[in-house]
Amino acid sequence: MIRNMNSYLLYDDGEHKVYWLGIEEAEDEKGILTNQYLVIDRNEAALIEPGGFFVFSRVLKNVSSIIPPTQIRYLMYSHQDPDVVAGLNLWFEYAPLAKIAISELWVRFIPHLAVLSVGRVIGIPDRGVDFKLGNSVIKAIPTHYLHSPGNFSFYDKKSGILFSSDIGAAAFPEGEWYLFVEDFEEHVKLMKGFHKRYMSSTRALRAWIRSVRRLNPKVIAPQHGAIFLDENVEKFLNWLESLEVGIDTFEMEFYGD
Ligand SMILES: [Fe+2]
Ligand SMILES: [Fe+2]
Repeated sequence: MIRNMNSYLLYDDGEHKVYWLGIEEAEDEKGILTNQYLVIDRNEAALIEPGGFFVFSRVLKNVSSIIPPTQIRYLMYSHQDPDVVAGLNLWFEYAPLAKIAISELWVRFIPHLAVLSVGRVIGIPDRGVDFKLGNSVIKAIPTHYLHSPGNFSFYDKKSGILFSSDIGAAAFPEGEWYLFVEDFEEHVKLMKGFHKRYMSSTRALRAWIRSVRRLNPKVIAPQHGAIFLDENVEKFLNWLESLEVGIDTFEMEFYGD
């Protein structure tokens, strides 16, 4: 069984803070485990990957213990999956000043979750865009086809943390969980199947790795699984580079030729 854990401070320079937003017992019995993150600069906050319905009360409680949710300026969504967006209409109410940031491909789909979304949604163009937060910048990095056709990672320049969406996801066996990757080789076993099936294209993956190497992030924080620190960032990028995924392997995988 997974035990409750509240927020964990990943970065703090006095003005700028980044939190991972906790986990609750038995979440893994309800659905795939997810990570949510809060970036704060001065008195403005961005909630990264706000998450689905059953995590909402835990995320709200942990956010509220750090800042009033009215200080959330952005709700930032990497893509349109239920584990990312399904709590959106609740966040609409609890963070009334927040704008929703999501790929422009998904803007027309959002009203199906929250009827009053007009005027509150920022469609991120395919090439990405910079979001100003207090004195800092969060960059939306194209992550298309990994796995959604309109997909972004978010890079917090000040902390050097890259929120990598589903890239880096690990599927823990029920009852097992840890926050930081320690034994990289063991951790690979929890990531491999997910990446081969949910990531669409080796070419897209390698383009993303090239753009991430230019950013040189200190930390990679995925929406599922564990966080990569220090030498595990490079180990992770090297491992990804060696992978063949999605349409490049499906014929052999599904049809045997
Ligand atoms: Fe996804
Ligand atoms: Fe996901």
